[in-house]
This record gives sequence, C-alpha cells and structure tokens, in this order.
Amino acid sequence: MKERVLSGMQSSGKLHLGNLVGALSNWVRLQDTYDCYYFIADWHALTTGYADTSAIKESTRDILINFLAAGLDPEKCTLFIQSRIPEHAELHLLLSMITPLGWLERVPTYKEKQQELKERDLSTYGFLGYPLLQTADIIIYRAKYVPVGIDQVPHLEISREVARRFNYLYKEIFPEPEPLLTEFPKVVGTDGRKMSKSYDNAIYLSDSPVVVEQKIRTMVTDPARVKKSDPGNPELSPVYQLHKIFSSKEEIERVADGCRTAGIGCIECKKILIKNVFGVMEPIWSKRQELLDSPDTLNEIVEQGTEKAKKIARETMHLVREAIGFFS
Ligand code: TRP
Repeated sequence: MKERVLSGMQSSGKLHLGNLVGALSNWVRLQDTYDCYYFIADWHALTTGYADTSAIKESTRDILINFLAAGLDPEKCTLFIQSRIPEHAELHLLLSMITPLGWLERVPTYKEKQQELKERDLSTYGFLGYPLLQTADIIIYRAKYVPVGIDQVPHLEISREVARRFNYLYKEIFPEPEPLLTEFPKVVGTDGRKMSKSYDNAIYLSDSPVVVEQKIRTMVTDPARVKKSDPGNPELSPVYQLHKIFSSKEEIERVADGCRTAGIGCIECKKILIKNVFGVMEPIWSKRQELLDSPDTLNEIVEQGTEKAKKIARETMHLVREAIGFFS
C-alpha cells in the first residue's frame, strides 16, 4: 500500500514558472511513489476573492489544464475540484465546533494577508477559517503527507492540532498530517523580485512563445552594464538567477564569466535563457493545446478524479458521524 499524499492549489489566477518549479514539478515526481490526491481549492479562492467571482470558473479550468500539461497523469494520481465534494464543508463545520478561535487568530498569515490586502474587507468568518477548511481538505483523505511550501507550515501545524483534538475528543480516526517540504530554488520574476502574479512580473504557463520571449528580452539586468563593454556582476541580474534554474552547468558558467569580463552581451545571455525556458515550456504548450482542443477529455478526467475522491471523503464522513454520535 502506497502512503497517501494530498495537496491543493487555490484557484486565483493563472499558474506561472514559479508554481511549476516550486510545486508542480514536485507533485509530478511524487505521483510515482505515493497515492497522490491533488485538487483545486476553489472555495479557498473565495476567502479573499468573494466580492468578484467572475474569474473562478476559467481559473479552475486553466489550472486543471496546467496540472495535466505539467505532467500530472490521471492514471497515476487523483485530480479533483474542492467545491465538487461537499463533504469537505461538512467536516469543516464539525471541526469549527472544536477549534478554539485563538488557534486561528494566531496563524501568522492571518494578520499578514489582511495587511497585504487592506483594500478588501477580510474581517470575515471564512477568511479566519482558511486554515481550518484546509485542515478538512487534508484529513478527510486521512493523508499522511502534504507537499507544500514553507509558507504553509503554520497551516499544517493547525491541521495536526485539530486532528489531535478530534482524535482525543471522539475517536482515533485521523493521522496527523506532515508537511513534505522540498528544497527548490526561488524563482525570480522579470523585475528581480519573487515571481508573483501580484507583482506583474510573472511568466505564465499560458503565455505564448512570443510573449515569453518578449518578457525575457525586456528583463532587467545588472544596472552597471550600460554598454556591452561594461563588466557586470551576474549575481545582481535576475536573468542569471533564472539561468541557474533553467540552463546547463556549462551555460551557467559561460554567462557568469562573460558577464564579469564583458565577454557576453545581455542580449546574447538572454537568448540562451529564452532557448532553455522554451525547452521546458514547449511540451507544456503542446499539451495545453491538445487539452484546449478537447474539452471532453478534461471533463472526463475531472469526473473520474472527483468520483474517486468522493468515495474516500464519504467513507471518512461515515466514521466521523459515528465517532461524534449522530443518529443514523
Ligand atoms: N493554502 C494552499 C495554498 O495557498 C491551498 C490549499 C488549500 C491546500 N487546501 C489545501 C494545500 C490542502 C495543501 C492541502 O497554496
């Protein structure tokens, strides 16, 4: 029996190279070793985006396409959509009865996100409960491991505490889920800051070749290199940071050396990066096109994944109702 892994992605916006390198590639690797469940957290998108839901459907669809285009294989893993499995909501409700408010108020991302999105009113019940809904997502599949980024670790801590509390109060049903942290390089965006859709510096998996080329060609480099004959410091150039992720060892050495000695121009350096980023994106582009051309295939995959996930969610909810002691 393979151990169970579960992870989700919020459906707010398109996926970019940072998501690919950071999360998706890791999910793809895990599907050979574990019994993997991956889903789109469309309810979670409402916690901050409740006022404008016009993009949810398209965003969910695009993420699903990217999941598959990046190499998640429905023969190996289970892909589904959170809102299609109302059992998550039932468990969330029941967990809300046993979760002290203080646990949720203390999660660092709670105040941070409110601060970051000041223009929105996030003093809602749903926003505070974000990590609890996430807990329900995870433990309803009795998952052992949750591959996430370091930013999600406080959420996983709550998940373990809540699982432990349920087990203590009612019955030992839930394993305490552990984060599966993977080291991956930080992907910078075209302006040198962390690649993020909120900074408008991202290269999206749905960008066309022309757009990707344009984005890389206009990236900032070491500002000391005004002319090609000015030597520079590769470490100050976001282009070099991306080379470190996408280029071969020889190419990395060559551009670093060329930058320091003014032996290579920024345009040539960017051309090498463009070639290598294309190498990664070409199979994704062609798979995306295939899926865009056959919406039925996509629907079938989601239907099958959802059915499979639902079966486990239902089983767990039977155990939960029995453990709490409802009339049945
Ligand atoms: N909070 C996660 C994110 O922002 C998304 C998410 C929702 C999730 N439910 C989950 C991740 C359950 C792992 C497990 O990326």
